[in-house]
Amino acid sequence: MQMTPLRHIASINDLTNEEIAAVFDTAQSFLDTLGDPHIPHRIARGAELANGMMLATLFHEPSTRTRLSFESAMNRLGGRVITSADPATSSTAKGESLADSVRVVSNYADLIVIRHPRDGAARLAAEYAHIPVINGGDGAHEHPTQTLCDLFTLKKKNTSLRGLNIAIAGDLRGSRTIHSFVYALARFGANLVLMPAKGLELPAHVDRRLREEFRCTMAKPPAEAGETNVDALYVTAKEPHQLSLIPEALDIHVKLTSRIDAVYVTRFQKEREPGRNYGAYPTVDAEFLKDAKYAKASVMHPLPRVGELAHALDTDARASYFEQASYGVPIRMALIAMSLGLVKDKSLARFPGGFATTKGAHYEDSARIGLRCRNPNCITHDPLEGSTTRNLFALVPAPTSSKSVLRCHYCETDIDTFIVGDKANRKVQHDAEAIHNMTTKDLTQFVMFTDATVAKESGFT
Ligand code: NCD
Repeated sequence: MQMTPLRHIASINDLTNEEIAAVFDTAQSFLDTLGDPHIPHRIARGAELANGMMLATLFHEPSTRTRLSFESAMNRLGGRVITSADPATSSTAKGESLADSVRVVSNYADLIVIRHPRDGAARLAAEYAHIPVINGGDGAHEHPTQTLCDLFTLKKKNTSLRGLNIAIAGDLRGSRTIHSFVYALARFGANLVLMPAKGLELPAHVDRRLREEFRCTMAKPPAEAGETNVDALYVTAKEPHQLSLIPEALDIHVKLTSRIDAVYVTRFQKEREPGRNYGAYPTVDAEFLKDAKYAKASVMHPLPRVGELAHALDTDARASYFEQASYGVPIRMALIAMSLGLVKDKSLARFPGGFATTKGAHYEDSARIGLRCRNPNCITHDPLEGSTTRNLFALVPAPTSSKSVLRCHYCETDIDTFIVGDKANRKVQHDAEAIHNMTTKDLTQFVMFTDATVAKESGFT
């Protein structure tokens, strides 16, 4: 008998657009049962769907919305919840690895939701769990279920996500909610107008994926347009009318920024870069929104807010952040029910799964003599994980050149400069083109090094 594959959600890109649509349909049916999300204390009808099932929430970082809405969702489905919300009171404090913890908890529950300070922790947990794992936020990497709440909010206010102009302000570098959000917006054909605080721009690998995998065209706004806080515009280049605009950055700028459909702001993620001084940080308030282009813009925030979003906006018709948070329960009811195969024809295990991340060739250096992930916050560098992580990378070809990058299997940070050592003759080649278009099997012949000095230390010259 063929085993049904487990479906984990470590990244928004683990869900296809079709699956996201199915999550929204299912969430809407729960929302219809729940009634008005602003009136609390309703118990869902059909509450027995997850009867006898157990959700484990393993939260290694603070949380209000994500953990409590997942737990509320499971309770409303008639299931039960066990929780570890403080690593200081679990075996993590004794030095237990995440890999061991999830193996053990897999025997106690049917589904795990995990939050962890390390980038890529959810992917690691998924590798060791025997039950589905859902990412409730892993370091600065991703927060896919928040994105589903965000997209669902946008979908309710607009006929389609395609062609929407979404401004994204604040800490684009450390905000995991933004990383999942921009991928999803690009995949659904929305246009992105990025307004990072200085020094807190999108990480290079997220920028690369937007341009190369999700086919966004980036246009720098011209200085004379006077938008000092707009760093870049991304246009999803799938629509012919948009393509025709691409040579004219100014036209794109004027066209996109003459109507902003939503402004999404996040707090500075101080826990990601302790002690960092970021200078001026955008504040979304009545003054920010007074420009005519924001007249109909939904104001969005994943919360918590700590000063970058004025409380005075709470009574403004554009304020959408508490609505976003209110969809946490129906969206997470849908995810739980679909992950556990409880909704007819909408089981996640039914779909082949995975959008763009896991396909293609992989390079693994199990002897760990070559390069390692360069993201210091990657789970592969967590001292508790020891050898539980693999030195594993996806080989991602650049669509327009023969230069491939190596993408960490866990945190998805790209390495674009490395040299190639051939195990057969112990010689190095300085050009990454040497491995372009290779298969996983071909790649076993090679070891990648950071530079020639390190290669030489390992006997490759
Ligand atoms: C976000 C998170 O944890 O990344 N919170 C949430 O889940 N709504 C945003 C944040 O903490 O800034």
